[in-house]
Amino acid sequence: MDPAGRGSGGHGEQTLAGRRLLVVGASSGIGEAFSRAAARRGARLLLGARRADRLEALAGELGALTRVADVRREADCGALVEAARTGLGGLDALLYATGITPLLPLARTGAAGWQEVIETNTVGACLVARAALDVLEPGGLVAFLSSDSVGRPRHGLVPYSASKAALDEAILGFRREHPGHRFMRITVGPTIGTEIASSYDSELAAELFGAWLAEGFMTERMMDVAELGELLADVVATVLAHPGISVSDLTVQPPGGRLSAANRSADDFVQGLPPNRGGS
Ligand SMILES: NC(=O)c1ccc[n+]([C@@H]2O[C@H](COP(=O)([O-])OP(=O)(O)OC[C@H]3O[C@@H](n4cnc5c(N)ncnc54)[C@H](OP(=O)(O)O)[C@@H]3O)[C@@H](O)[C@H]2O)c1
Repeated sequence: MDPAGRGSGGHGEQTLAGRRLLVVGASSGIGEAFSRAAARRGARLLLGARRADRLEALAGELGALTRVADVRREADCGALVEAARTGLGGLDALLYATGITPLLPLARTGAAGWQEVIETNTVGACLVARAALDVLEPGGLVAFLSSDSVGRPRHGLVPYSASKAALDEAILGFRREHPGHRFMRITVGPTIGTEIASSYDSELAAELFGAWLAEGFMTERMMDVAELGELLADVVATVLAHPGISVSDLTVQPPGGRLSAANRSADDFVQGLPPNRGGS
């Protein structure tokens, strides 16, 4: 590897040869795309999520290890990291790509709705990161996927934004209390090819579409999940190749502007949603 970390993949790709990575939320979307890109760059991977069939199929392709885990269970969060310690011999980096975005208008959201989103997006992230503190190499990297909706909560998605705002604050706290490791917040904009909207009720989504346009939520373009996975693998490789530098914040967004009512209808939008898999 050269000093800038280039070397394995050609076309300017950064190498992850020999790096040990835990990807939580690897069974679909950005976590899956990142895992594919990281494996191609030579990483040794442990993949975690709830859907065993999806994890096994991906791990078979990539030559990775798996651990089925529900991050809403504290013991599962510790077991994920323990599996990385025993299976990979330690960790150089962890990507927390787990997340859910249920449509929850505030007037209809009770304790169970709040608990599910906060436990998945915030508490799970903190429990996995806590477990990893003793397993990560000194200077190891913990990267979390946050959202460009923080500070700009959208109709029907306020619990989601609140969970990511709390995650952002926790990341600041991890940096303060654990300066021996590096904690990166990756603020993600609209990305297509993931399953994040697969729990949406299409009637409610169509109802909220007008408000989302007015709020500037909808963008003309979306990032392609495979391309985003490639970029994130290059970023993680670059950061690991430069242990003396902490890259605290990264924002990834599609180029272009916001969508106006004139160029997309609610029907088009609902038809473009991923197939419903019965809630997260
Ligand atoms: N797509 C976007 O436009 C966008 C924009 C901003 C931020 N983000 C963030 O990016 C991250 C990834 O989202 P995505 O779009 O790639 O969605 P996705 O395709 O739905 O992926 C979410 C992942 O989280 C896992 N997961 C959900 N609940 C879990 C639980 N209780 N325990 C363990 N794993 C769980 C899912 O696996 P299982 O169901 O198998 O457990 C899946 O692997 C999320 O944090 C999301 O908030 C996405």
